[in-house]
Amino acid sequence: MMEYLFAKKPLSLLLEEMKGENRLRRVLGPIQLTSLGVGAIIGTGIFVLTGVAAHDKAGPALIVSFCVAGLACVFAALCYAEFASMAPVAGSAYTYAYATLGELFAWIIGWDLVLEYTVASSAVAHGWSHYFQNFISIFGVAIPKALGAAPFDFNPATGHLVVTGTWFDLPAIVITALVATILVIGIQESARFNTTMVGIKVAVVLFVIVVGSFYVKPANWFPFAPYGYTGVSFFGKTILGLTGKGGEPLGVLAGAAMIFFAYIGFDSVSTHAEEAIKPKRDVPIGIITSLIVCTVLYILVSAVLTGMVRYDQINIDAPVSDAFRQVGLPWAQGLIALGALAGITSVLLVMMLSQPRVFLAMARDGLVPTSFFGAVHPKFRTPYKSTILTGFVVASMAALVPLRVLAELVNIGTLLAFVIVCTAVLIMRHTNPEAERPFRCPFSPVVPSLGIALCLLLMFSLPTENWARLFVWLTIGLAIYFCYGRHHSVLAKIRAKENAAGAAPGADLSAADPA
Ligand code: ALA
Repeated sequence: MMEYLFAKKPLSLLLEEMKGENRLRRVLGPIQLTSLGVGAIIGTGIFVLTGVAAHDKAGPALIVSFCVAGLACVFAALCYAEFASMAPVAGSAYTYAYATLGELFAWIIGWDLVLEYTVASSAVAHGWSHYFQNFISIFGVAIPKALGAAPFDFNPATGHLVVTGTWFDLPAIVITALVATILVIGIQESARFNTTMVGIKVAVVLFVIVVGSFYVKPANWFPFAPYGYTGVSFFGKTILGLTGKGGEPLGVLAGAAMIFFAYIGFDSVSTHAEEAIKPKRDVPIGIITSLIVCTVLYILVSAVLTGMVRYDQINIDAPVSDAFRQVGLPWAQGLIALGALAGITSVLLVMMLSQPRVFLAMARDGLVPTSFFGAVHPKFRTPYKSTILTGFVVASMAALVPLRVLAELVNIGTLLAFVIVCTAVLIMRHTNPEAERPFRCPFSPVVPSLGIALCLLLMFSLPTENWARLFVWLTIGLAIYFCYGRHHSVLAKIRAKENAAGAAPGADLSAADPA
């Protein structure tokens, strides 16, 4: 039993599979890949979450929070880039874990990526709906109240769900359906649409930085860190820094754990390795360039925002556009809302593009039903069935589940994925030292180890209930694995055949890996 659970997929087998028939179309160059990265990164995090993070968690020291979260992501990105250059196949962290830590861990990370991509997409679709309603309100138009929000919301003061009196979130459903349709039609069309959206949102972010900087009052940056520089809890008990009313940690690290959401997405570039023209070179370029560009923009936006408006006056729902209203530029509000809409649309597009590609990799390994998740459209060459399913699940969750519950789940799941990828790089260096690495994570083992430490620190800086939710999520995933994946695993079947043919039980397949 154990030998199956921890069976590793040899690197040579991964590369061999790349030559098969059921492949995606190779059309993406370095600019499109970087643009996909920026497309997935800049969205709800910077346009919405900066408000709560500055107001309630970090104050003007939000600038430092962005540096800390950015650093954790840079360490993880370097590890992703090494793997992506070694095994440029769809599947991202899932595939890397399969090659290094074995099937069970691969399943856990694959299931965790569902959290990152599908649940994050639902949170992002919610954010889109809010900004859309905010935008049309400028023209005096409104969606009927019953169709404008999820029927429940989470009250952090009581810890209970409350009824909102609405039916469902219609704009969230519409945007999800629209994006799913574009995704089915084709990767090139999706990338083109994404590039336009990215252009608009980057222009708006630059507008915020340049125009906003004329309205900065340095006095607003003091006190710089009203909640302190830490904010770490250990399963509900604050061990470093201040504690908030709801028992949550406060301070720069707590702020970093929250705005970490803003960085999620650079790793999605690695899920498109199979569609890259030169994956070994361009995927690392796409991952690292998109992350660095966004980190610089985020640090500048947070400096300008906290300089324009005192941290305790920052609006929580639409912090960036409201800051311009507060300094007497109401016309900029509509422009920024439009940029936010474009930004959030492209995040949704890339997240929903990534999920079916992870499923595709899992389907090829037999861990999810191949006929469904492995189906590639004969004409469009896209994994259409799972794209439609992803769209359906995203739309349902976005329509019915409150944003807060969805968003909180995502950060902890993604941080866990990063911890596993950094660990996998360390393991792979040990088990396959000779493998070709077109891109090498610099200063290994220091960089992967710092990546692991920093991501764990941020996981502990999140409110405790996230650990409970992560645990429930992983338990559901394990139940699915033991009921389905474990019995259909392609690797397990190869193993069983080898054992029947007399190979030593438990022999590590990767030992035979010529790579
Ligand atoms: N980084 C993405 C966003 O902020 C998920 O919307």
